[in-house]
Amino acid sequence: MPVTSTKRLVTEATDGGYAVPAINVVNQLTLEAVLAAAQELRSPMIVQTSVKTVRSIGLEVLKAMWDTTAARVDVPVALHLDHCPDRQVISECLAAGWNSVLFDAHELSVEENERQCIEVVAEARAVGADVEGEIEGIQGVEDGIGSDEQGPVQTLEVAVGFIERTGVDIFAPAIGNAHGMYKAQPTLDHQRITDLVEATGVPMALHGGTGLSADQFSDLIARGCAKVNVSTALKIAYMEANRTYLTENPSAADPPKLFAHVREAVMDMTRGHIRMFGSEGRV
Ligand code: 13P
Repeated sequence: MPVTSTKRLVTEATDGGYAVPAINVVNQLTLEAVLAAAQELRSPMIVQTSVKTVRSIGLEVLKAMWDTTAARVDVPVALHLDHCPDRQVISECLAAGWNSVLFDAHELSVEENERQCIEVVAEARAVGADVEGEIEGIQGVEDGIGSDEQGPVQTLEVAVGFIERTGVDIFAPAIGNAHGMYKAQPTLDHQRITDLVEATGVPMALHGGTGLSADQFSDLIARGCAKVNVSTALKIAYMEANRTYLTENPSAADPPKLFAHVREAVMDMTRGHIRMFGSEGRV
């Protein structure tokens, strides 16, 4: 069975000094293409679904897509619910068999976030699933969640206390990273990753993977970012490939030819990230 626990994937990545790509998919074509690239390059893979994608496709259909598509690969893969502030959606995805969830309650006080996160961890444990925690907003709006304003960053002490008391398996800190396209190369607080990992031993999730440099990735991965999230790069690859194909073939009338072109572009984007994160050939 190639579907495995998210915690196992990030633990193996930490031990091996690489990161597992965690790529947001938006439909069957992108789900299949991301998994096909992982299979081709013998890489583990975390497939992420935003709340918007869960709602737009429908939880049961999306889970059936995952089950049948993941069954075709023999590299270890996991299904993760990205930024979710909604406890109802968290519960539904855990009950349906998602391998992990990001309980994103950064808009609540840290105390209330912690209180609820302890409940989410207990709920996840009961079904063998894992939890990513977050106490600071990652700048940028992603599928309708988040803000363009940089919110407050908590002290190391507050973050470590949250991680220890909740028992989260992965933590997503704000280190100057942002969702969407960076307007300029960001200055990242890489020391915060080192400090958090040294204090807790818990692997970090690097959000805002689109547009960071290979050097930034390798530095942050060496410091303990064992899961790197990529969403915007997939959306761009998908839209650009559609646009290019239809511009170059204005009278195209055979959808499968368009799909094949788009699939290759999504696979190529995925291959590039697998290689940058050092996860190629790890399986
Ligand atoms: P990007 O959209 O910048 O790739 O970030 C993805 C992400 O962090 C999803 O949680």
